[in-house]
Amino acid sequence: MDDLIKKTPEITELILKAAKTAREQTSMEPEPEHIQPVDWPIDCTVGPGLEGAIACESKIGYVNGAKGALVYRGYDIFDLCAYCTYEEVAYLLLHGDLPTRDQLNVFKHKLIQCRPVHDTLRVLMGFSVEEMNPMAALRLGSNLMRQQFSSVDMDLENIDFSSIIGTDEDSISNATTPMGEEHAIYEFERSVKEQKELAKADDYDTCYHLISGVSTIAAAVARVREGKFPIDPDPQLGHAANLIYMMTGKKPTPEEERIMDISLILHADHGMNASTFASMVVASTLSDIYFSVGAGISALNGPLHGGANEAVLHQLNEIGSKENVKSWYEKARSEKRKVMGFGHRVYKAYDPRARVLAPLAEYMSERAEKSKELLIIAKELEQEVDKHLGQKGIFPNVDFYSGVMYSAMGIDSAMFTPIFAVSRVAGWTARVMEYMENNRIFRPRARYIGEFGKQCKPINER
Ligand code: CMC
Repeated sequence: MDDLIKKTPEITELILKAAKTAREQTSMEPEPEHIQPVDWPIDCTVGPGLEGAIACESKIGYVNGAKGALVYRGYDIFDLCAYCTYEEVAYLLLHGDLPTRDQLNVFKHKLIQCRPVHDTLRVLMGFSVEEMNPMAALRLGSNLMRQQFSSVDMDLENIDFSSIIGTDEDSISNATTPMGEEHAIYEFERSVKEQKELAKADDYDTCYHLISGVSTIAAAVARVREGKFPIDPDPQLGHAANLIYMMTGKKPTPEEERIMDISLILHADHGMNASTFASMVVASTLSDIYFSVGAGISALNGPLHGGANEAVLHQLNEIGSKENVKSWYEKARSEKRKVMGFGHRVYKAYDPRARVLAPLAEYMSERAEKSKELLIIAKELEQEVDKHLGQKGIFPNVDFYSGVMYSAMGIDSAMFTPIFAVSRVAGWTARVMEYMENNRIFRPRARYIGEFGKQCKPINER
């Protein structure tokens, strides 16, 4: 994979240039009040939507909203994009530091082993996946992975992928309970020991299974939506290349592979965002990590979160041409509509991920006529929005340029959010693993502002 970086020097240059601009305009020091260990209980000012609330400590990633900086485990995001691959970054998030070559080889081997999810796909394809929202299909698929495999159920080294749980009711394997009853083993067994083990969720193999498997499912969903059969992963290809290959049937060029790889790095983690929090809330109940990832996928789907990337593309298509940008934006402003792909709860400076994705979108668009148009509209819209909202700290976010970039790669807009999810599995699983080391169930309160003392009458008297 070093090869990939060597083969794409122009792309590395673009990242280093974006990094230079970012460093000139912002400073990388952390905000001191946000990096001290927490001495519970703490006082913090909390706004609606839990804005400002500190829910836990974490060493995984840091978003410096005032300065527009993003750090994974101490490493600047620009450096990770310039010098690492997604596999190295996923390992970093999960295990705390960048892998040595040997560690990376073992990790990649595990991902290769986990990438085929035939049985999950066979069950999933029993549903009308082609008619489903692809995020719904992905969430369903991620939960179905739980019936195929769990670190509690089996040992990764001994998996025979051809023989695990059958895909229709008749062929689901049975297990005998201590009481002598037979039951399908996809019904989650809840012995005390297993509950504890599932709850601890401390088995990294399960995380690897999810990182690899969700990607395979997303690609299969993309194929089926186009009326095509899913494609098996190619063990010779890395994570990003496999994703493109399994979606499109074509082996990517080094440039396409590198750009997808960088995009996966940029989307892999981002503090206590809504989907990460959702997955952690589920894990905190001692459910399991498959359900946690399913919850993350559900939360990511919304247009205020990961769903914005697809919405951005619809918005650019709706605008239609550079000439229409001004009038379109004036209308949106007068209707108090939000511009998709702008603004962020934490960033009040330019999102560093957008700084990288903008030149990558440009690089790809130079090679695709239709996307060239979209990019021109996007750049004009950025300028127009900046005139009105720049001083308010509202800039393009990660979702603004990613859609243009994926479009230029020939990827259907319905798959943008699933690709975001494919990447974020690393962040979700890493954060869940970290939180489970010192788990406490999440349980905030709502302030009751309703009535008291009302008399309850039977229905006929109301
Ligand atoms: N267009 C126009 N005005 C905006 C926008 C926008 N995209 N975003 C925020 N504002 C204004 C908003 O109208 C409000 O103005 P006022 O103070 O006059 O009422 C102010 O900025 C604060 O906005 P908010 O909605 O209270 O901020 P929030 O922190 O609750 O929401 C957000 C953050 C990302 C949901 C929001 O900026 C938004 O809806 N953006 C558009 C959707 C989008 O692009 N989402 C992707 C987010 S980044 C990737 C991810 O997390 O998945």
